[in-house]
Amino acid sequence: MGTKNGKCSTLMFLQCLALTITVMFILIVIMLFVLVTNDRCKCHPQELVLTERRPFINKQIIPKSLHKLAVLVPFRDRFEELLIFVPYINKFLTAQQVDHNIFILNQIDGYRFNRASLINVGYLHTKNDYDYIAMHDVDLLPLNTNLSYAYPTQQPFHVAAPHLHPRYHYEKFVGGILLVNREHFGVVNGMSNKYWGWGLEDDEFFVRLRDANLNISRPENITTGTHNTFKHIHDRNHRKRDTIKCYNQREVTRKRDRQTGLHNVNYTISSIKKVTIDDSPVTILNIELICNHKLTPWCDCSEKKPDVKQIRKL
Ligand SMILES: *[C@@H]1O[C@H](CO)[C@@H](O)[C@H](O)[C@H]1NC(C)=O
Ligand SMILES: *[C@@H]1O[C@H](CO)[C@@H](O)[C@H](O)[C@H]1NC(C)=O
Ligand SMILES: *[C@@H]1O[C@H](CO)[C@@H](O)[C@H](O)[C@H]1NC(C)=O
Ligand SMILES: *[C@@H]1O[C@H](CO)[C@@H](O)[C@H](O)[C@H]1NC(C)=O
Repeated sequence: MGTKNGKCSTLMFLQCLALTITVMFILIVIMLFVLVTNDRCKCHPQELVLTERRPFINKQIIPKSLHKLAVLVPFRDRFEELLIFVPYINKFLTAQQVDHNIFILNQIDGYRFNRASLINVGYLHTKNDYDYIAMHDVDLLPLNTNLSYAYPTQQPFHVAAPHLHPRYHYEKFVGGILLVNREHFGVVNGMSNKYWGWGLEDDEFFVRLRDANLNISRPENITTGTHNTFKHIHDRNHRKRDTIKCYNQREVTRKRDRQTGLHNVNYTISSIKKVTIDDSPVTILNIELICNHKLTPWCDCSEKKPDVKQIRKL
């Protein structure tokens, strides 16, 4: 009996042990499950809060603009102006809730500066992702916060209007800062590629707009004047303008150009750099323009070739 009892109690003990282990195992599994799902419950609402609150705030306080603006800044060798311009315009446009990006169109070839061709290149580079462009001088800062950079639906909007610009007051002036939507810039075939050197390309663009029946609208009800609506940060003594005329440049650039534009601007973008200046993001396109010497020999007025090494590459 003793042995039988002994066997029996040993058997029972083993059975109890097995039962206990099984029960404990099930308990542990249940506890783990509860812990894991609890954890998930703690995480999940937080994630929801993070992803749902932001658009909520955006809708209530910062409405996102429907259109994207590419700020196109023709540029060569004016680093000190760039350092002021980029953070300033970024802050100005952010305050207006304009969805924007700044593109510095840096001309790195050895030819004379060609503002219009650079803008054509900037447009071609950005047109798939942006709804409108601002053709923007690097040395002109808007001071009056009522100057709108909103999407120009009906017609181009000339921010740097003649009645507000510090220097240019003639009615046909469209330079400085001009907003044009993607469709309109395409309709007029962009700008002429014949304007190497400083000046007149914007006057030719005015004629393109007029020929396409596109009127220009300008800021209204601005209470500031020509001296305090914009800040002109250009130092004329330090930066001499390239106003040389050679070959038959003077004669040709006084006429409306029906030969060149967006469709035949010849260039390569040798590199693209994304940098930030004082926390403001900016994209630098290093652009090599290619000159058609037969059509526009004045892209190079010097007898000897310009020294390419002297042109700073960013
Ligand atoms: C902008 O316009 C508003 C409303 O007309 C006016 O109160 C404000 O003074 C203007 N701001 C500037 C900088 O002119
Ligand atoms: C442009 O302005 C002229 C004169 O004010 C007007 O006759 C014409 O209808 C306008 N065109 C457009 C497209 O708004
Ligand atoms: C400018 O002011 C006039 C007169 O108050 C008003 O009729 C017009 O709508 C205003 N223009 C803009 C663009 O706000
Ligand atoms: C662009 O320039 C290259 C090199 O000079 C030339 O071969 C090509 O024909 C030019 N294209 C246009 C559209 O002018």
